[in-house]
Amino acid sequence: KPVFVLNGPNLNLLGLRQPEIYGRETLDDVAEACSTLAEELGLAVRFLQSNHEGALVDWIHQARGEASGIIINPAAYTHTSVAILDALNAFEGPVLEVHISNVHRREAFRHHSYVSLRAEGVIAGFGTEGYALALRRMKTLVSK
Ligand code: DQA
Repeated sequence: KPVFVLNGPNLNLLGLRQPEIYGRETLDDVAEACSTLAEELGLAVRFLQSNHEGALVDWIHQARGEASGIIINPAAYTHTSVAILDALNAFEGPVLEVHISNVHRREAFRHHSYVSLRAEGVIAGFGTEGYALALRRMKTLVSK
């Protein structure tokens, strides 16, 4: 079963928006790096992005029974979405949360995450390398 890698709003502009915070790599670059690493690790990945909260909720529902684990960068919904938390709570496998930037060094409203109430682990401030680190950890979690 594949690992779902889900990305929230504005991450389609990765590499273009606020590169001083998020870097110059695009989301396509990240998707490619994930698929190369996944192959190395013997994992399948399904890499998805949406600007819509409901689309993310629908993918999390689809992950029930279909995905071995979920890696999610919920972007701004991290700090607002009870709906995404509830959907993740209905998923049976491991969940890892990724933030490209160090949210704890930023505005106070970024310090709280609803998703962290569900995530086995959180990576923040490792840039886009955070996705690769999360994938390695996911390999361990799904191999148990
Ligand atoms: C983010 C951090 C969030 O606070 C922000 O809203 C994002 C991206 C990150 O990857 O650093 O859009 O999740």
